[in-house]
Amino acid sequence: MDHFDVLKNQHRSMRKRIDELRVAGGGSARQEPLDELRVELEFHASLEETYVYPVLERFDDMRSWIRMLWESHDELRQLIEELAGCPEDDAAFATRLSRLSEAIEKHVGDEEMHVYPNARLLAGDVELGSISRNIEAAIRKRQAA
Ligand SMILES: [Fe+2]
Repeated sequence: MDHFDVLKNQHRSMRKRIDELRVAGGGSARQEPLDELRVELEFHASLEETYVYPVLERFDDMRSWIRMLWESHDELRQLIEELAGCPEDDAAFATRLSRLSEAIEKHVGDEEMHVYPNARLLAGDVELGSISRNIEAAIRKRQAA
């Protein structure tokens, strides 16, 4: 399993939180999956923003993708906070949840269909190796904390 598989697994986990939020009842039942989703997105975004995007944006072909993905993390953060601030109104919650779900699907599609495969082609073994080591170290550090 390489670091892109690790990042893909994080995407799977975020999707799972969306599914949990869809079936959670109102109020406090939403809190746990929402908190988990927030923490998971922050860790995922921090790995990509710290170790992956800076390496990839050196390639001309990747620069506009990376700029878009950076914005996509900010959009996801904002949508999660909007969902967290949603009143006990099921219709409003469902609307915001589907907006968040669509944004996650777009992020996942852009990365898994375009960015990761292109990164594998463009980046050399040294760059990919350093991304892998950095991500492994960050995960170990987080697990030890
Ligand atoms: Fe991602």
